[in-house]
Amino acid sequence: MQNKELLKLFEDYLNNNLPTSQTFHPIFEEALQDMLKAGGKRFRPMLLLSIVSALQPLLVKNALSVALGIELLHTYSLIHDDLPAMDNADLRRGHPTLHKSFDEVTAILVGDALNTHSFNLIANAPLSNDTKIELIKTLSNDGGIDGMIIGQAIDCYFENKKLKLNQLEFLHIHKTAKLIAGSLRMGAIISGLDLEQQNKLYNFGIDIGLLFQIQDDIIDETATEEEAGKTTANDEAKNSFVNLLGLDGAIKSADELAQKCEETLNNFDSKIKDNLNLLLSHYLYRHK
Ligand code: IPE
Ligand code: IPE
Ligand code: MG
Ligand code: MG
Ligand code: MG
Repeated sequence: MQNKELLKLFEDYLNNNLPTSQTFHPIFEEALQDMLKAGGKRFRPMLLLSIVSALQPLLVKNALSVALGIELLHTYSLIHDDLPAMDNADLRRGHPTLHKSFDEVTAILVGDALNTHSFNLIANAPLSNDTKIELIKTLSNDGGIDGMIIGQAIDCYFENKKLKLNQLEFLHIHKTAKLIAGSLRMGAIISGLDLEQQNKLYNFGIDIGLLFQIQDDIIDETATEEEAGKTTANDEAKNSFVNLLGLDGAIKSADELAQKCEETLNNFDSKIKDNLNLLLSHYLYRHK
């Protein structure tokens, strides 16, 4: 399936399966859906779906609720990331952040709801129980204590305290790369790949995820809010590649990592390579 078709399939699925909450609460359901409807690149679900589409195309439809689960967990991480206590950002996905459109309590609780609902979606997916346990293990690990959460905790705790480069890499790998790598592993699990092949994709995902976050640090420095669709010039107090290495140093690191990722990708099975190439070209061929 072409990338565009796959994205359309996912967007349609998302729009038909938005989380609901029909009670007398006047605004909670609208808030629950707001950031999901606002858009976004859908990079993580597309990583999962690209792997399944390459290896087990007949399972793509069974994988859609798992892909949606990943997008829910990612969207929760953005809603919380933007809160005043964290990055204090006003714009996300081209829209006011949730705590601006609604209020902080609502944004916190919508984040909590999307987090837990992501696991509910996976538990109810039309896949075997063994597969679903492996998927839940992966998402809870890479999105959890030893993944995105410790990354976010370090990111915020060390504001205005300069980290060493290896510590900054640890931070970026945890806050961003692990969920990206986990998305590839989840595609591999659904497709029935063995642990060695899963690990190969996961390790590639860590490099891609680090590249993604270095690029995100560059966006904060160089893009307007209109271009980025989110608050930019917001990393002043942060440990970011731009702050540690300067803009040129950050670009150089990204270029080197892109080169490494391109080489690794060339060694994958041709179906995986072709599908991921489409999705990753923007990151891999940065200056070509
Ligand atoms: C933003 O993620 C947060 C980071 C980890 C850099 P994305 O850049 O994937 O945001 P959306 O989903 O497209 O809005
Ligand atoms: C966020 O990193 C990573 C998450 C886990 C959400 P950033 O704070 O750099 O993401 P943006 O720039 O706000 O999207
Ligand atoms: Mg942040
Ligand atoms: Mg942020
Ligand atoms: Mg950023």
